[in-house]
Amino acid sequence: MTLRLILGSDEAGVDYKDQILADLRQDPRVGEIIDIGVNRADEDFNKPYPYIGIAAGELIRDGRADRAILFCGTGLGVAISANKVEGIRAATAHDSFSVERSVLSNNCQILTMGQRVIGLELARRLAKEWIGYTFDPSSASAAKVQVLEDFEGAAAATGGA
Ligand code: RB5
Repeated sequence: MTLRLILGSDEAGVDYKDQILADLRQDPRVGEIIDIGVNRADEDFNKPYPYIGIAAGELIRDGRADRAILFCGTGLGVAISANKVEGIRAATAHDSFSVERSVLSNNCQILTMGQRVIGLELARRLAKEWIGYTFDPSSASAAKVQVLEDFEGAAAATGGA
């Protein structure tokens, strides 16, 4: 099954977003890519990073995409923003092991990276690695992720989320 993937960034991550978008458009593991911006021609090119993180999270929550790779200056702002959306697990990762574990341990739907933190070639490599991992629901990690889902479910039931 091919992935429906979102790519997004604020202005501080747009160069990496555009390069990795181009890479993944050639990748047979990716069936569809949604570019949620920003793009240099946009009137709102300087849109603050939370809009990008939240938009990606909502598209995944609503079943319109499977996963997202997001960029900002550090990767932190878009991750924090996406994590505000119910059911979303986003992680900033700039090394191969964390990229792997973000899926296999944490079942993250979103990877974020910082254009001001790592080199472009490493970011391109990590993006390709990340889309190759699939969470195993029969693994020991599943019960741990379930704790998060139960917490969110309980909060929603009491109006707290
Ligand atoms: C630039 O606005 C920078 O603060 C942003 O891209 C990001 O690094 C925030 O987390």
